[in-house]
Amino acid sequence: MPIVAPSLLASDFLRLKEECEMLNESEADWFHLDVMDGCFVPNISFGLPVIEKICAATSKPCDVHLMIVDPGKFAEDFKKAGADHLIVHYEVCPHLHRNIEQIRSLDMIPGVAINPHTPVEFLKDILQDIDIVILMSVNPGFGGQQFIPQTMQKIRELRRMINDRGLLTKIEIDGGVTVENAHALIHAGADVLVAGNTVFKSPDPKAVISKLKHTK
Ligand code: DX5
Ligand code: ZN
Repeated sequence: MPIVAPSLLASDFLRLKEECEMLNESEADWFHLDVMDGCFVPNISFGLPVIEKICAATSKPCDVHLMIVDPGKFAEDFKKAGADHLIVHYEVCPHLHRNIEQIRSLDMIPGVAINPHTPVEFLKDILQDIDIVILMSVNPGFGGQQFIPQTMQKIRELRRMINDRGLLTKIEIDGGVTVENAHALIHAGADVLVAGNTVFKSPDPKAVISKLKHTK
């Protein structure tokens, strides 16, 4: 069964408490929290005070996806806010290994996200040090975009790299995930499905989460 991680970027911010309660009652495994700085990506989402409230409202792991430059500057603050997983972008980390060591030393689970144009081969020398790879299946910055088909090939390649080396790194797919494409993603080798609009814009979010979870 896949791990299902609804992205609260698509939730109703005026009803954040109820949205968290809904996720707590649902079959969602993780809370996916998107942090954007208006610099690495052309959008600004929410920051530490909001993350802190959300993390306090759940006992499920909070998967914090940092779409920000210089993530090392804030790693300790995200730990204090309650982040369980801290995912940084390959494209903004010239000293990626140092970022990963820092995240681990702060007792968080480290991950690396790559943009649609970044080849999975670039992860070869960091793969053994991380628990999660986020393959961006849209250009980061906005919810509700179309899934980029080339991602399928990237999932298969990364799955092969992980299996060949006997690693346990999880492959997380972020962007344009739907009930319709979930099956193909899982069969290509995905472990974690992030879903924003698919979950929160549905009249029955819990049912959609359940459908994603039980995708065969
Ligand atoms: C995009 C974010 C995603 C986003 C996904 O930059 O990283 O997590 O919320 O939204 P959907 O599922 O609507 O494409
Ligand atoms: Zn995300």
